[in-house]
Amino acid sequence: MTITTPNPTLTDSLLVDGAQLIGGEWVPSHTARTIEVINPANREHLASVPRSDASDIDAAVEAAERAFPAWRDLNATARAALLFRWAALIEDNLAELDQLESQEVGRPHWGPPPMAGQLRFIAGQADKVQGVSLPTYSPDALGFTLREPYGVVGAIIPWNAPGPMFVTEVGAAIAAGNTIVMKPAEDAPLTPLALARLSIQAGIPAGVINVVTGYGHEAGAALPAHPRIRRMGFTGSPFTGSLIMAACAENLTPLHLELGGKSPQVVFPDADLDVAVPAMVSGITLNTGQICAAGSRVVVLRSVHDELVERLATQMQKITVGPWNQPVNMGPLINEKQHDRVLGYIEAGKDAGAELVTGGGVPRGGDYGDGFFVEPTLFDGVSPDMKIAREEIFGPVLSVIAVDDEREAIEVANGTDYGLVASVWTRDVGTAIRMSRALQAGQVAVNNALGAAVIGGPFGGYKSSGFGRTMGADSVLEWTQVKTVSMRPATPTL
Ligand code: NAI
Ligand code: MG
Repeated sequence: MTITTPNPTLTDSLLVDGAQLIGGEWVPSHTARTIEVINPANREHLASVPRSDASDIDAAVEAAERAFPAWRDLNATARAALLFRWAALIEDNLAELDQLESQEVGRPHWGPPPMAGQLRFIAGQADKVQGVSLPTYSPDALGFTLREPYGVVGAIIPWNAPGPMFVTEVGAAIAAGNTIVMKPAEDAPLTPLALARLSIQAGIPAGVINVVTGYGHEAGAALPAHPRIRRMGFTGSPFTGSLIMAACAENLTPLHLELGGKSPQVVFPDADLDVAVPAMVSGITLNTGQICAAGSRVVVLRSVHDELVERLATQMQKITVGPWNQPVNMGPLINEKQHDRVLGYIEAGKDAGAELVTGGGVPRGGDYGDGFFVEPTLFDGVSPDMKIAREEIFGPVLSVIAVDDEREAIEVANGTDYGLVASVWTRDVGTAIRMSRALQAGQVAVNNALGAAVIGGPFGGYKSSGFGRTMGADSVLEWTQVKTVSMRPATPTL
C-alpha cells in the first residue's frame, strides 16, 4: 500500500496550514483567499484555511466522482480494512488530535475523544451491508435487494466537536461505498483536515474523502446546491438546516439533519441527587455547554426543588473556568458571535423575571484576557414559555422549571420544538419505564446526562431536532439506496 506524502506546505505536526484536500492534493482555494483560525481562549492565530466557494466545491465533486467507481467496487471487507487502519492511525495520533481540537474549540482536554472507537464500530458495519431475498410468484423467478451507495455525497458539520463529527459522517458515508465532499465549520476546520490527512496515510484512495474549507454562505451553500451531490448530511442550527433542506429540495436530494436540542432533565423526588447533580452540571458545562445533547432544562418535581437548586448552585460554583492549557473544567465559547448570543440569552432570562441564582457574568482580567469566557449560569423560577426555556442557548446556562406532578413534568419536558435527548432521574423502575415511553426525544437517558454507556446507539432527533440517525449500525444503511432485482430465465422453463 503506498502512502501519499503530504505536500511540503504541511508541517511535521498534523496541523494543515493554508490547504484543503481535493482529489488527494493539498490545494488552496482557486480564489487564493483564506480564513484565519484562532484559539477562542486568547484569539491566538493557529493557522489559515482556504476560503473556498462554489468552484472549489465543483472541483471536489469532480474529484469525488473520479474516485467513486473504484471505491464502490472495492470489496467491502477491503474497504473496512482501510477504515480500521484509519482508526488505528487516529488512535496513534490521539494526543495531537486532542490538542488540535482543544485549541481550535478552546476547551480544556475533555478525556479521550471517542473518534477511534466510533470509527471502528462503523468500519465493522462496512461488510455487513446486506439485502434480503424476496419471495416470488413463481419458482423460476428470483428476487432480492441490493443496498448500493448513492455516489458522491456531501456533509456539513459544526465547530463544537469537529473531530467526532467528521469521523461520524465521513466514516458511515464511505463505509457504504460513497465518496464524499465535506465542508467543516470555518471556526474549527483543523481537526477535520488532520483527520483527512491521516485517512490518506491509512491508504484510503485519493478523492474518496475531500475536505473543502470556507464560510457557510459560500462553500457551504454550494454543496447542497450542487446538482451532482446525491445525498447530504448536516449538523448545526435549525435556521441553517432549513436552508440546506430547501437547497436539497431544489435538486430532490435526500438528506439527514441534526439540529440541536433543548434537552430536559426530569428530576423526581426519589432521584439520587449525589449522582444527578454533578452529572447535570457537567452536562451543561462540558464544552462550555456547546453540545447539541446538553441537558439545558431541569424539570423538577416541586417537593425536591429547593434542595436541588441549592445543590446545583454549589456544584456550579465549583466549576473552574480558563484557557485550554490549564487544569480547568470549562473553556471559553467559540467566538464573539456566540459570546454575544449567550450573554443575550442571560439578559433575556433576567428581563423575563427568572431568578439568577449563580453566574451570569463574564470572567475578566488575567488569563481570561480576550477570550470569549462566560460564567456557568443557573436560573431558577423559569417558566416554560420563557425564551431561555424554549431556545437552544448553546452555552453553560441551566434553567430550572418546577412542576407539580408527573403529568406536568411530561408536558413541560415535551413542550419545546426540540426533541434530541431527555434525561430522567429516578430510582423507581415504573417511573423510568413510563417516562421512557412518554418523552418525545431521539434519546432517553435514565440516570445519566448525555446518553452515556451505549455502544452503537443510533443518534438523532424528534421534531425540529431533525431526522435521520447517525452513529448506529443503521447509519451506514442511511447512506445507501435499495435496489430490488427480479430475475427470470430468458426462456421460461415452467
Ligand atoms: P450554523 O448552523 O450556521 O453552522 C453550522 C455549519 O453550517 C458550519 O459549517 C457553517 O459553515 C455551515 N453553514 C452556515 N450557513 C450555511 C449555509 N447558508 N449553507 C450551508 N452551510 C452553512 O451554526 P452557527 O451559526 O455556528 O451556530 C448558531 C447556533 O446553532 C448555536 O448557537 C447552536 O444553537 C446551533 N448549533 C447547533 C449545533 C448542533 O450540534 N446541533 C452545532 C452548532 C450550532
Ligand atoms: Mg451561522
